[in-house]
Amino acid sequence: MMHSDVTVVILAAGLGTRMKSRKAKVLHRAGGKTLLGHVLDTALALAPPERVLVVVGHQAGEVRRDAAAAAGGIGFVEQKEQLGTGHAVSICRDAASGLGGYLMVLYGDSPLLRVETLEQLIAQAKGTSAAGVLLSAVMDDPTGYGRVIRDERGNVRDVVEQKAGTAEQLAIREANMGIYCYRADLFWKHIGEIGTDNPAKEYYLTDMPAILSRAGHAVEAMQIADPNEALGINDRAQLAEVDAILRERKRRQVMRDGVTLVKPETITIDSGVEIGPDTVIEPFAQILGRTRIGADCTVGACSIIEDSVLEDEVRVGAFTMVATSHLERGAQAGPYARLRMENHVEAGAHIGNFVELKKTRMGAGAKANHLAYLGDSAIGAKSNIGAGTITCNYDGYAKHPTKIGEGAFIGSNSTLVAPLEIGAGAYTGAGSVITDNVPADALALGRARQVVREDWARKRRARKEASSAR
Ligand code: UD1
Ligand code: CA
Repeated sequence: MMHSDVTVVILAAGLGTRMKSRKAKVLHRAGGKTLLGHVLDTALALAPPERVLVVVGHQAGEVRRDAAAAAGGIGFVEQKEQLGTGHAVSICRDAASGLGGYLMVLYGDSPLLRVETLEQLIAQAKGTSAAGVLLSAVMDDPTGYGRVIRDERGNVRDVVEQKAGTAEQLAIREANMGIYCYRADLFWKHIGEIGTDNPAKEYYLTDMPAILSRAGHAVEAMQIADPNEALGINDRAQLAEVDAILRERKRRQVMRDGVTLVKPETITIDSGVEIGPDTVIEPFAQILGRTRIGADCTVGACSIIEDSVLEDEVRVGAFTMVATSHLERGAQAGPYARLRMENHVEAGAHIGNFVELKKTRMGAGAKANHLAYLGDSAIGAKSNIGAGTITCNYDGYAKHPTKIGEGAFIGSNSTLVAPLEIGAGAYTGAGSVITDNVPADALALGRARQVVREDWARKRRARKEASSAR
């Protein structure tokens, strides 16, 4: 559900020292997307883009570019120095305080939070007279998290950070997940009261519950059952764990939607992928990027499909790579085919084993069943491209096009030197090197005529035998 009265601030200014990376933490990828990309998807499922603000700091330019490319219309605030979570939110005041409604805070390095959980958080915030709600979880080992201190009525009196807690406070197992939904008016009214009076000398956003309760407002906690949902990534081991969780979630989602995954644990599906019902995905396939696959398709074992569209009833055989290509209904590719980039395979066309396509349009029902390279070409409908056909599309300086008319028959092992046009219904003889255009319905032969020397082999053998007998 879209909440037109909720503003989301995403904190993404930290470097993430423990990643040991030159890249900002939120730009690392899990589940086929940057960490920030996942959080943005979640934010935009809940709030309109003009109410989503990202706080950037380390590598602000790159983070901004990545976020803006993933989600148009969102806002950015730059935090030059990372003075703490309280400071990071406070600098959004000019951009956000006038918007009213509710303020939700998310972290750019916590990509597992589900929209449903945040819906509940928002619902609780809207349904209560309290000033806000924070997400908490009871953990076996809450070390490192802020601890939630409740008052006698069960409201949150304070959140105490690991570094600042007494032994008694640190024994509390209810941990702050760092995700909040506050009434915007009260939040912005009191934000200035956050100070740096703590061992880390940081502005702690976690001071807000105590500040609000001192001002006579309640803050509630909403417990989630699985603290892993709020798991923030700190190092590459956690990145791998989160990747595994996101992949498993995606596999479950597509299976619920009617897709058969054979040995699902071996299959990789990026979170942006869509797959229609009754499609079968075989072991070790990878379906990546913005790929859309229709219904009743098959994707063979170990195939990799990236940023492509497969309409209904498409069959991709095993060990086939398809990138930035479009296969229309009933088209077939593979096993062992490569559709390298920007190809369009029309309905019912066949691309067979060891065939490579690059920037090529295969007309409806056309076939290139074995061992061919077709680059920068337009292949007419129902034509047959013989085994071993090569388009020579590159002369060392520029790429040149090849056009083959409808119903043409290209003999096996034809070498088509581009630029070249072969007319509809024309034939080329097997083994020909075709350098000149071929008119429609003609036969072109471009090879030496066969010579037969009668008895040549027998005479040669006789000569050899005579010389070795000497
Ligand atoms: C915070 C909470 C803690 C909670 C935990 C849950 C505070 C003071 N503590 O601690 O109670 O249990 O989250 O994970 O809020 N960031 C900025 N600018 C800053 C500081 C942080 O953008 O100046 C970003 C970081 O990049 C990070 C997020 O805010 O994505 C959280 O900051 P971090 O320093 O990791 O807070 P925690 O120590 O995890
Ligand atoms: Ca953290």
